[in-house]
Amino acid sequence: MKKSHSQWSSRMGFMLAAAGSAVGLGNIWKFPYMAGEMGGSAFVLTYLLFMFVIGLPILVLEWLIGRRGQKNPIHTMEDVAASEGRSKLWRWVGIIGVLGSFLILSFYSVIGGWATDYIFLAINGTFNGVDGAATGQIFSGFLSDVGSLLTWHTVFMAANTIIVAMGVGGGLERACKVMMPGLGLLLLILVGYAAIVSGPSFGVAFNFLFTPNWSALSGTAILAALGHAFFSLSLGMGIMMAYGSYLGKDVNLLSTARTVVILDVIVAMLSGMAIFPLVFANGLEAGAGPGLIFVTLPIAFGNMAAGSILGCLFFIFLTFAALTSSISLLEPTVELLEEKTPMGRKTATVVSSVLIWALGIACILSFNEWSDVTLFGKNIFDLLDYLTSKIMLPVTGLGTVIFGAWMMNQKIIRKELNLGNFWFGVWSILTRVIIPVAVVVILVCGFLPETR
Ligand code: PHE
Repeated sequence: MKKSHSQWSSRMGFMLAAAGSAVGLGNIWKFPYMAGEMGGSAFVLTYLLFMFVIGLPILVLEWLIGRRGQKNPIHTMEDVAASEGRSKLWRWVGIIGVLGSFLILSFYSVIGGWATDYIFLAINGTFNGVDGAATGQIFSGFLSDVGSLLTWHTVFMAANTIIVAMGVGGGLERACKVMMPGLGLLLLILVGYAAIVSGPSFGVAFNFLFTPNWSALSGTAILAALGHAFFSLSLGMGIMMAYGSYLGKDVNLLSTARTVVILDVIVAMLSGMAIFPLVFANGLEAGAGPGLIFVTLPIAFGNMAAGSILGCLFFIFLTFAALTSSISLLEPTVELLEEKTPMGRKTATVVSSVLIWALGIACILSFNEWSDVTLFGKNIFDLLDYLTSKIMLPVTGLGTVIFGAWMMNQKIIRKELNLGNFWFGVWSILTRVIIPVAVVVILVCGFLPETR
């Protein structure tokens, strides 16, 4: 089955699509609660460091390999490996990537469903005048209601199916152009609101996130920061590789990657500064876990002028931020089925979605009926998150960087990146030594129980 190999309409379109994939629940929902659980700044600063020193080079390499291969991740890896005279086994980088995106989408869609449900809760005025105890109750009531969780997970998956079945090209690129600036504007408003109403708690939140407190740094937090850098940039899943395959030769990879990383980081930081001031001002628990954003932000919306409208808008944008990412998560599985089976694009999309949707149900049940079904002390949701963010993504990322730095012709890479002697030296040391060693060390440490 032949894929028409289209290209992004412009560098801007590509950048926004890549940023659309990168900016998502990871920034707005996951980053703040992880920072809260891991004790704040030590985690945040480690994450920032990893984003630029490890995430950025791997992002560049994924695009570079994708642009070279011009195919889906598995065949791209196979072809590029062959052209460099390397083993076909490198396709495993692509295979684990596709598997990772499949697993991630199963729980990502459940959370996307939460965001969708909250649009309606906000507009119906459910949050009017609420306090922290009330929003906590609304959220835990929702989590124990299998019917609602399933409904919204289904709605969210259906939206994905429709968009991906229609082809993501023009529609997705255009949607990102509208959604991303809108999301940024809303975040600014929320940060402004948090600054106004939370008084001294704003400064407390700022210190919590940014004043170095290295004693709080644990092995667990370092591994989490690395896993999140991968997750947040959509790395290690073949997604950026696939995006690179639609990329024209004229696009400067390094400067585009820098912009995407900066945008991604800014959204995460702004989300933290929108949420933590309210957490502290209301005496809520910073380490509340995955429910954090669904428990704290509604307090703000419930107590501000035109809060139901702003709340509704916020959750619409959260849903769209999730959608522009989840579509990119669905794509690899669809592509694979399309190429490896006789299925057409529409059938492949429906089949992939149903499989992912079904796994999502297990994830939903882990919040209620199956909450005591655990493996290694983790429920299904935590297990999927752990397996993907902390193991599969770093392993695939490691494969990518070793391939890019040791298996590919470095002269060509240097030309493609257009680097002078000094910066290419820095690039080489980073990709050949520092990144692989760091990822291996962090992976190994992550397996030691509670290293400190
Ligand atoms: N980067 C997205 C986020 O931060 C999640 C994602 C991961 C999307 C992997 C695509 C691939 O929410």
